[in-house]
Amino acid sequence: MDKMWSGRFSAGASSLLDDFNASIMYDRKLYREDIEGSLAHAAMLAKQGILSAEELKAIEDGMAQVKSEIESGTFEWVISDEDLHMGIEKRLTALIGDAGKKLHTARSRNDQVAVDFRRYVLRKNEEITVLLKRLMETVVNIAAKHTTTLIPGMTHLQHAQPINFGFHMLAYASMFKRDIERFTESKKRNSVSPLGCAALAGTPHNVDREYTAEALGFDSVSINCLDTVSDRDFALEILFNISTMMMHISRLSEELVMWSSYEFGFVELSDEYSTGSSIMPQKKNPDVPELLRGKTGRVYGSLMGLLTVMKGLPLAYNKDTQEDKEGVFDSVETAEISLEILKEALKTMSIKTENMHRACKVGHLSATDLADYLVEYSGIPFREAHFITGKAVAKAEELQIDLSDIDFAELKAIDDRINENVMVFLAIDHSMEARTSQGGTASVRTLEQLVYFENYLKDLDL
Ligand code: ARG
Repeated sequence: MDKMWSGRFSAGASSLLDDFNASIMYDRKLYREDIEGSLAHAAMLAKQGILSAEELKAIEDGMAQVKSEIESGTFEWVISDEDLHMGIEKRLTALIGDAGKKLHTARSRNDQVAVDFRRYVLRKNEEITVLLKRLMETVVNIAAKHTTTLIPGMTHLQHAQPINFGFHMLAYASMFKRDIERFTESKKRNSVSPLGCAALAGTPHNVDREYTAEALGFDSVSINCLDTVSDRDFALEILFNISTMMMHISRLSEELVMWSSYEFGFVELSDEYSTGSSIMPQKKNPDVPELLRGKTGRVYGSLMGLLTVMKGLPLAYNKDTQEDKEGVFDSVETAEISLEILKEALKTMSIKTENMHRACKVGHLSATDLADYLVEYSGIPFREAHFITGKAVAKAEELQIDLSDIDFAELKAIDDRINENVMVFLAIDHSMEARTSQGGTASVRTLEQLVYFENYLKDLDL
């Protein structure tokens, strides 16, 4: 009968209940947030005359002791304490006596856990953003070196039009920029303090919520306590933001897997970030991007899990909500290591520019350029130009050459309106450089995009 809430009970809890009900095995990750929250709360209670100066001092000293016990590994986490909030309060009271019993005045575990978990998530929003920024810098640095490196641009995974590899990498920079914005905006939106909401309805004690909000680094105080104690939007947002980010990482990973195959041969991952086979001695496997692709699945699972936990909850706090933490912890840790390892794998991979170039000579990548040429220089309507180009492609296929290598005489035989200057337009580097429309692949346009992302990164306040 040592439970803090045991007053109205006559029998003790079964150990089965303890095992089932407890979150202390994993929510202890929040110990720093919990102790900081308690210290801010205690300081506010003292300022308001609810605690004496001596009591505050005792709480501060006791909490310092608890913190050092946790950090040195001597703190005893017991399952029957249920969660970290009660585990820490119990130890504090054992250390300092009555002052410890007063700490929970004007507070409930409902606002307490909302403070702790929210602050953890806000901090992780920022830490993930810093890692994202470094990954984005890596991507942009690779792009800077390859604004004239030709690579086949694809649709339907079929060769479509030549682009430069820098342009390709900047597509990922665009995605990572949106990810950074999402984490940043979510942090701003959710920087709202739950402390002082108590169980659900507020408290009759004369608390100063502005004071604790400021002490804990929140931008403001929540408006409606009933909402606040059961609001987990901040957790859903970080799960969604991580999911979207991992989806981007997974798309890039999929390309790395393909690019490092013999069939593509566009990149070679470094030995440091490749693995071997236990049976096939010749193998070098892209486990890193494969795992990044795979781990995306578990992050989506956490998002769906928490959305499902929340969907039928009546106001206000329900114990279901305790299921919010493990998925977030797992997703945050997955995100952190994923960002780190992808950055290193990219930094250390070698880029096989000749193979990329060779691939551009397969699949008649400049076919659209021939059609565009016929429209612009021969005055032929686009539909007809498309048809004539189809004939030219068929001829190249028959000759087993790429359209960019066809003889002028062959083209002239197909349509007499074609002039010799067409040959310039069939060259694949010309095809890439011709796409000068805003946001296009031409080197000048790629360089503009590069400057845009470099400036964005430079101005990022992180
Ligand atoms: N361990 C609980 C959680 O994570 C803390 C809040 C418990 N509140 C309550 N009234 N049982 O949600």
